[in-house]
Amino acid sequence: MSTLIVFFSFEGNTKFISETIAKTMNADTMELKISKEYPKKGFGKYFWGGKSVIFGEKPELINDRIDLSRYETILIGTPVWAGSYSPPIKTFLEEYRIQGKRIALFASHGGGGAKKCFAKLKDALPGNEFIGEIALVEPKKNPEDSSNEVVKWAAELLMKE
Ligand SMILES: Cc1cc2nc3c(=O)[nH]c(=O)nc-3n(C[C@H](O)[C@H](O)[C@H](O)COP(=O)(O)O)c2cc1C
Repeated sequence: MSTLIVFFSFEGNTKFISETIAKTMNADTMELKISKEYPKKGFGKYFWGGKSVIFGEKPELINDRIDLSRYETILIGTPVWAGSYSPPIKTFLEEYRIQGKRIALFASHGGGGAKKCFAKLKDALPGNEFIGEIALVEPKKNPEDSSNEVVKWAAELLMKE
């Protein structure tokens, strides 16, 4: 069965999870990229990202279009931003209107909000089956334990196929 991993990562933690999953599963990967990047430093980093979530912005993606009909399972990964998922994921969900897939969710966060983030993602993905979720606190700070945890989770997902 073919699997796609779709994710956005601002500072590399969600990307770390995605890369660990991809080593465990045979999956294609799509890293969402936006035309206008958020500022990476100082106050602006939280301000622009937070504002973008609160105003429901959908930043333009520069990825090539992908044919989702080839995939039965889609893993969606995001950093938790302001207790929700990151705006590039919102753009992706609106552009593709995913239906009838098996979906697993993964997130990186700074200590809170993952539950809310997953609940909002599920609300935004009606008509799909949810097969798993995992949230880690900034895994790049703790790479060994984090990758063990992710590998175990991904292996359990594979058993569900
Ligand atoms: C704009 C912005 C908003 C954030 N909001 C939250 C939050 O609500 N809860 C939380 O635990 N962490 C929050 N964080 C921290 C990130 O979720 C955390 O650093 C995560 O590991 C980043 O993943 P990434 O490296 O893939 O971008 C926020 C970070 C940014 C930049």
